[in-house]
Amino acid sequence: MAQFVPAEPFDLVIFGGTGDLSQRKLLPALFHRDVDGQFSDDSRIFAVSRGELAAADFIAFVHDALRRQLADDEFDEATWQRFSQRLHYQRLDVTTPDGWDGLGAALASEPDHIRIFYLAMLPSLYGSTASNLARAGLTNARSRIVLEKPVGSDYASARAINDEVGCVFEENQVYRIDHYLGKETVQNLAALRFANSLFEPLWRHAAVDHVQITVAEDLGTGNRAEFYDRTGALRDMVQNHMLQLLCLVAMEPPISLSHEELRNEKIKVLKALRPITPDNVKQVTVRGQYTSGAVSGELVEGYQEELGQDQPSNTETFVAIKAEIDNWRWAETPFYLRTGKRLATKSSEIVLQFRPVGHSIFPKDSGELEPNRLVIRLQPNEGVQLSIVTKEPGPGGFRLRSLPLNLSFSDTYQVRYPDAYERLLMEVLRGNPALFMHREEVERAWEWIDGIIDSWQQSRMKTQNYVAGTWGPTDAVRLLDRDGREWRNPHDD
Ligand code: BG6
Repeated sequence: MAQFVPAEPFDLVIFGGTGDLSQRKLLPALFHRDVDGQFSDDSRIFAVSRGELAAADFIAFVHDALRRQLADDEFDEATWQRFSQRLHYQRLDVTTPDGWDGLGAALASEPDHIRIFYLAMLPSLYGSTASNLARAGLTNARSRIVLEKPVGSDYASARAINDEVGCVFEENQVYRIDHYLGKETVQNLAALRFANSLFEPLWRHAAVDHVQITVAEDLGTGNRAEFYDRTGALRDMVQNHMLQLLCLVAMEPPISLSHEELRNEKIKVLKALRPITPDNVKQVTVRGQYTSGAVSGELVEGYQEELGQDQPSNTETFVAIKAEIDNWRWAETPFYLRTGKRLATKSSEIVLQFRPVGHSIFPKDSGELEPNRLVIRLQPNEGVQLSIVTKEPGPGGFRLRSLPLNLSFSDTYQVRYPDAYERLLMEVLRGNPALFMHREEVERAWEWIDGIIDSWQQSRMKTQNYVAGTWGPTDAVRLLDRDGREWRNPHDD
């Protein structure tokens, strides 16, 4: 049974409180936790933004956002009455040191509340906002700051942000969000690896031929085209979500789930990633960009048309990488990463492809001895699938066939899967940093990504087109084909 442990009284201040993230994720997540009775009556939520908004209009705005985001049976009128009492709006321009008195006075009325500042805005404003918070006297030893990804756009900018925020907040007060770490199935990776004795002895190069991590989306860049064009798939998805997944698969067993132990193991993996250089970048990476095509039967525009610029853009909407981890456990076991927009379907999976048996005792006409494969489905249809070679029943000798052992979490646990932000917000309220990124994780990840971006630039590597609704450019297939391997696509079994 799920347990709903109440949080201590808090004041949560969301900068960018009327923005997209707040409407789509943060407010609905907070509402769900309020439905489950985890907030004290006096806990408060402040939305901060530059616009003029009367208190009643703000309440109506949140009401509309929740009605849009939540299913009818998730919106509960009694909770709304309670939730709406918590909501406050503060007009404030975070870029100037003036005008912070209103927020200061409001927060001062509850000096014992845990104070959380959630920065759901441009990362370039993180540093100055932290300084202004301190200047206005709003921070104390019990306050925490939450930074949305991306923290910076390269190593230097990430470091500058971390330094500036670090002048005001101790590292254990800083919560850097990568929402993949709050997903149920990502958490389940720890259970799969470390709560079962079956896999760990095999979780290494001697038994694993290679690992594939796919995070595929069927959506395009939507209303974020301009932001996306400055960012690209490598910075948007690989620097954070994909590398975090890679770390969780590749890390050594930590001695506990404490944030220090987890972080140390993840950092060791990031340090062991073999740098990608101009000499090999074309062999080990693929950049793609979608052209118009059909996604789930619907005709969609290509990236260039969506962007609508005169100059053609060379931003990648797809990236595939052969990553090598130079350590004892993973020598000669590559990790193939791929992510992209407008692919055939939305699906995130981790695949461990095991090595073939050393010697076959079966007659040649028995069928293929397909190596075992462990598929961890992160979304949708969360579950785990292990392929096993079996004998087909009946006379006629050995007819071997690979069949899946299938564990579907959604069939087994008939519960609502909480959104990642629900868990992450509760962890911030509880002061547990284990599901957040330490500054060193962010900076090490950027160092590796910067190496790829520099190499792309030096070798003038262009994007290759792929038709929307497919699995990316043909070079992505070649990336594995060269090594005698192939991608596993969802629904392949
Ligand atoms: C975000 C990226 O971090 O993750 C988006 O900025 C992407 O571009 C999103 O669409 C994917 O998240 P999810 O939870 O839908 O897999």
